[in-house]
Amino acid sequence: MKAVIIEEYGGKEKLKETEVPMPIAKEHQVVVKEKATSINPIDWKLREGYLEKMMPWEFPIILGWDVAGEIVEVGSEVTDWKVGDRVFARPDTTRFGTYAEYTAVDDNLLAYIPGTISFEEAAAAPLAGLTAWQAVFDYGKLAAGEKILIHAGSGGVGTYAIQLAKSKGAFVISTASENNRELLLSLGVDQFIDYKNEDFTKILSDIDVVIDTMGGEILKNSFKVVKPHTGRVISIVAEADKELIENTDVAFHNIWLEPNGKQLTELAKLMEQGKVKSIIGATYPLSEKGIYEAHAMSETHHAVGKIVIKVGG
Ligand SMILES: NC(=O)c1ccc[n+]([C@@H]2O[C@H](COP(=O)([O-])OP(=O)(O)OC[C@H]3O[C@@H](n4cnc5c(N)ncnc54)[C@H](OP(=O)(O)O)[C@@H]3O)[C@@H](O)[C@H]2O)c1
Repeated sequence: MKAVIIEEYGGKEKLKETEVPMPIAKEHQVVVKEKATSINPIDWKLREGYLEKMMPWEFPIILGWDVAGEIVEVGSEVTDWKVGDRVFARPDTTRFGTYAEYTAVDDNLLAYIPGTISFEEAAAAPLAGLTAWQAVFDYGKLAAGEKILIHAGSGGVGTYAIQLAKSKGAFVISTASENNRELLLSLGVDQFIDYKNEDFTKILSDIDVVIDTMGGEILKNSFKVVKPHTGRVISIVAEADKELIENTDVAFHNIWLEPNGKQLTELAKLMEQGKVKSIIGATYPLSEKGIYEAHAMSETHHAVGKIVIKVGG
């Protein structure tokens, strides 16, 4: 089958289109014929070798950890899924990723794609949507009526986090550049902050939950606006300074997404109800050139919503 792989760490020129063996379903796996996958910043961070210690994998590595497609094979112990099912998933984090025509996925990580949702919309959602889910609900413990600040609301994770927070009945504040104001308001943001011209620490206070997608000064400054005693700061990118954590009594979590088929099924329901939609800023084909351009776009840090890769015709 066709795949885009890397055989060593480095720049985008290391991406290589080639033929690799077809995956085979283990007992509790299915093989999915991919219709679409999507790009996340972890893809190019891994390509560069930044995550080598955390994931000391052999080469070749197939990058990509989102899939939407149809099941073509089921493992001997799979009972809940059958050939022909339209599914999506954030597969387990292995070196056999999703920049490929077929991929193997553990059966507990799968969810059905609602009939009204396209493969592209589905492929955009698992990694970014589940990260948003776990940040906002599992760790942020957002309740109706609370105020949440979502940094980089126009990004992959941000666009889902905004909609999940709105679905819970929260007051949603989000940052992006002026170019993305209309998009964020269309997603339901109650208060928009143009980070290039406004300082959120001068505008906000008593925020119940902050979702940090940026780290650095943004994470540090987030502690200035969060509600004392009961506030929660959740970062998906960085650890906070020890001093900051020790000197405040807010809860802090630096989280790493756990793939989860049940939560993805819940997300799929919200997508079916129209409460959450995938914002797709750009689409590329599964080819060396397509993935190269998609990585270039993601590396700008200014992609809008998700970058989707179409697989096959
Ligand atoms: N821990 C985990 O499990 C996990 C999971 C997913 C992602 N992540 C990480 O989380 C980060 C965000 O991921 P993502 O997929 O959402 O990224 P992304 O889609 O690449 O984010 C791009 C967006 O960030 C906005 N942005 C850039 N600089 C900003 C600033 N200073 N303030 C506010 N917004 C800014 C841009 O808006 P403008 O163009 O308007 O500037 C753009 O729309 C990445 O570092 C990623 O690796 C971690």
